[in-house]
Amino acid sequence: MQGMFDSAAKSYVLVNKVITFGLDEKWRHSALKEITPREECRILDICTGPADLVLKIARKFPRLEIDALDYSPEMLTIADERAKKSGLSNIVFKECDVTGIKFEGAFFDYVTVSFGFRNLSFSPENLAGALKEVYRVLKPGGRFIIIETSQPPNRFIRALFHFYAKQLVPLAGRIVSRLKTPYNYLGNSIVKFYDEPGLLNVLESHGFKKIKIAPFLFGMVLLCVVEKEASS
Ligand SMILES: C[S@@+](CC[C@H](N)C(=O)[O-])C[C@H]1O[C@@H](n2cnc3c(N)ncnc32)[C@H](O)[C@@H]1O
Repeated sequence: MQGMFDSAAKSYVLVNKVITFGLDEKWRHSALKEITPREECRILDICTGPADLVLKIARKFPRLEIDALDYSPEMLTIADERAKKSGLSNIVFKECDVTGIKFEGAFFDYVTVSFGFRNLSFSPENLAGALKEVYRVLKPGGRFIIIETSQPPNRFIRALFHFYAKQLVPLAGRIVSRLKTPYNYLGNSIVKFYDEPGLLNVLESHGFKKIKIAPFLFGMVLLCVVEKEASS
């Protein structure tokens, strides 16, 4: 998995733009709007990839130091280059697996993830490990903000979406990046991922409380905000 993300790093941003018709930026922006920091607020972006979401966060809150992690060194190299090019020096990138976050204790007011949650859920054990870690590093009352693909409730739209994900996403990915494996994987992982009740269920079973859920494009993408118990 990690090697696959390394290989996709160079073309990832462009492929994303192509397969979402540029809507990915709007969806990440919806996650950004959920962050309303106080002073001294700590934010961690996980599965940061080439930094698409964390660049927006760092730009909007230039006085905060933002942490960002990913286990792919190639993704982090591109993330770092993009941060430097944007003149942003308030992001600290760390090479790290979400199932073993290198921070002690309840440290963060927000943990964010854009289009990375699906990758954590390739096995129930991996997802459980990752969610335990996110819960651990959040302060009581801290929020986990997720933007991710999901399943449209309407069966007809869902069938169209699955056709697009399984047939056209791999084709477009292959044409733009000349890579086959990552975009076959992407299509397959999209059709297998949780619907809205399933996503909420898995988050609640790991102790999170629902704050907000908002669908985009008939539920093809979901913004989900959950909270760690204030008293825990
Ligand atoms: C689909 S990309 C998302 C990138 C970016 N957040 C975005 O908005 O497009 C998923 C990223 O998650 C990373 N990733 C997947 N599983 C991970 C794990 N267990 N620990 C750390 N990073 C992980 C991959 O290396 C990849 O960069």
